[in-house]
Amino acid sequence: MSVPVTLTTSPKQKPAADSLGFGKFFTDHMFVLDYSSAKGWHDGRIIPYEPISLDPASKVFHYGQAIFEGLKAYITVDGEALLFRPDRNFARLNHSAERLCIPAIDEQQALEALKQLVEVDRAWIPAEAGTSLYIRPFIIATEADLGVDESTEYKFIIIMSPSGSYYAEGINPVKIMVEKKYVRAVVGGTGEAKTSGNYASSLISSKEAHEQGYSQTLWLDGKENKYVEEVGSMNIFFKINGTVVTPELTGSILPGITRDSMIQVLKHKNIPIEERHIAIDEVIDAHTNGTLEEVFGTGTAAVISPVGRLLWEGEELVINNEEIGDVSQLLYDTLTGIQSGKINDDFNWTIRLT
Ligand code: COI
Repeated sequence: MSVPVTLTTSPKQKPAADSLGFGKFFTDHMFVLDYSSAKGWHDGRIIPYEPISLDPASKVFHYGQAIFEGLKAYITVDGEALLFRPDRNFARLNHSAERLCIPAIDEQQALEALKQLVEVDRAWIPAEAGTSLYIRPFIIATEADLGVDESTEYKFIIIMSPSGSYYAEGINPVKIMVEKKYVRAVVGGTGEAKTSGNYASSLISSKEAHEQGYSQTLWLDGKENKYVEEVGSMNIFFKINGTVVTPELTGSILPGITRDSMIQVLKHKNIPIEERHIAIDEVIDAHTNGTLEEVFGTGTAAVISPVGRLLWEGEELVINNEEIGDVSQLLYDTLTGIQSGKINDDFNWTIRLT
């Protein structure tokens, strides 16, 4: 089922690949779908990218009923366009929707609409190594009403942004600060939902991290302030004495799609991988006794991002001489190889657009 398309009459100039950065430029079109309790989700359409007009009383502005996703489209070495596991993003969007009392979308229809949108703006997918078209689906509550209850109206919108590396460091190791003062989430809270409020409450920590020269925050659990959870924009992995360890999904951690993919790759390559609780003390001890071999993050925006330094209680741990470790490199090459069509997609993760 295709949705109606209104093409722009004033296409924008495309930015040069080396000026992309992350999430700064937007394509010519966007997808919009409305919801009302009377009509359900309706009126899906692709229209020129433009500002939206909302009533100032829209619930999203006051109570933060908003969720989003992040995925990417790539141009392969054969010049084809592909999407990476988009079905998982729409499934996760619905999971977040449930937690935020937002009505579920039809995942199949959302995927069809996305494919159509990417086709319309296909010329915006950058082809240079390390670049892609970052896709941001999101849902906001639009009912004009200040009562604290779930909205009866919503907008589901997909916008797209040709992007380069999320971190200025690219694939070079980043510096991360372990956060002790603030917490991101607690079990039973909204930590595993991709809701805007989680990111709003994390800003103070990233700001303080930046002021000290670190790229992001590594969050600990909200109850004991002891177990590692995730980094602001990625899930986290540690290689200790030959085994890769990543925090298990407890309900307060975002279930990353790149996280899941990389666990599958590690298993496929027979590299020991454990999903379990990991205390920050275990990481520090491993560093002290020389068994902390690698630390890296995974995420759609971040891809595979090695961590070269960790700041914990005023002390800086240097990891693997601030070099990219073997496992980080292997995962990076496998993931970007599949996404660029350079290596076979044995996992059936990619969807090629015709
Ligand atoms: C992503 O990796 O897509 C994210 O959502 C992380 C971030 C840029 C918010």
